[in-house]
Amino acid sequence: MRERIEQVQREISGIVITDNTEAESFRIKYLGAKGVLKSLYQDFKTVPNEEKKVIGQHLNELKQQLENLIEAAKLNEQAKQPKSLLDLTRPGRSTSLGSLHPLTLVRNEITSIFSTIGFSVSEGPEIEDDWHNFSALNFPPDHPARDMQDTFFIDSSIDGLSLRTHTSSVQVRVMETQKPPIRTISPGRVYRNEAISARAHCFFHQIEGLYIDKNVSFADLKQTIDFFAKSFFGSSAKIRLRPSYFPFTEPSAEVDVSCSLCQGDGCNVCKYTGWLEILGCGMVDPNVLDACGIDSKEYSGFAFGMGVERIAQLKYRVNDLRLYSENDVRFLTQFHF
Ligand code: DAH
Repeated sequence: MRERIEQVQREISGIVITDNTEAESFRIKYLGAKGVLKSLYQDFKTVPNEEKKVIGQHLNELKQQLENLIEAAKLNEQAKQPKSLLDLTRPGRSTSLGSLHPLTLVRNEITSIFSTIGFSVSEGPEIEDDWHNFSALNFPPDHPARDMQDTFFIDSSIDGLSLRTHTSSVQVRVMETQKPPIRTISPGRVYRNEAISARAHCFFHQIEGLYIDKNVSFADLKQTIDFFAKSFFGSSAKIRLRPSYFPFTEPSAEVDVSCSLCQGDGCNVCKYTGWLEILGCGMVDPNVLDACGIDSKEYSGFAFGMGVERIAQLKYRVNDLRLYSENDVRFLTQFHF
């Protein structure tokens, strides 16, 4: 038996299998159902018990050698195949993530600054009636802001229905439905009938602020705006208030922030004044409180309104308003934060 095993080992030691056909006939001859190995296993049964262990090991060794030869032949054959273009080891292509619109980024930042001092966020419709957009806000009936040149009227026969010209309309809706204390900001899109240019657009975005409670003073307004300016533009930012006029606030002011580019020395962004105008504000006119169902003898409040494009322009130095709505990806992909 041992002799026969060794003979087969000698026989195969010189064999080189070159292709699949040869490998298959080799397999049938040695490992097949009627092959050499099979008959050796048959004979193994007649081996005396005391020799079984050694002969058995020998036989298994032969089996392993036969299988190795076939395996090597297969690998050899594979290596000869032309390389496939599919390379499964290549790293995958990454998909690029989109980014938020610069106006969304600025709106989110402003919203989160005001939320730290307790302001909620409220919204109102973009199609407004005359009451919420004008009358409740103390606009006299013949006020020029109601003029066709400013306002997009939808159907003036239906209570002067128009696209809202400012987010101050949301103030009215909040005061009509909530009881003081009220602390809210209202971000949203507004519309004005303007020729589109680098400096003007027929739609843009505002954030309105409203604070109503007992004993709210002008000092509270000033502190709140100062807190906002320092949070948004940096701790060295200063504000200044200039007297102004809005129908819905009395007294009214416009707020400038010190130019963060030149630190107030004067540059072309601030037109050599050292200051940049950022918002309008004032103490809510008692007429407005009363029109909205809040007793002006008991409560007072302040309001402010700022343009989001304006603030974004100062933050990102974007000097053409049209870029915000043209959806040019070269512009939009710059704002990854
Ligand atoms: N609504 C004003 C505008 O569109 C902005 C504004 C000014 C809002 C003063 C206010 C305010 O709440 O108090 O120009």
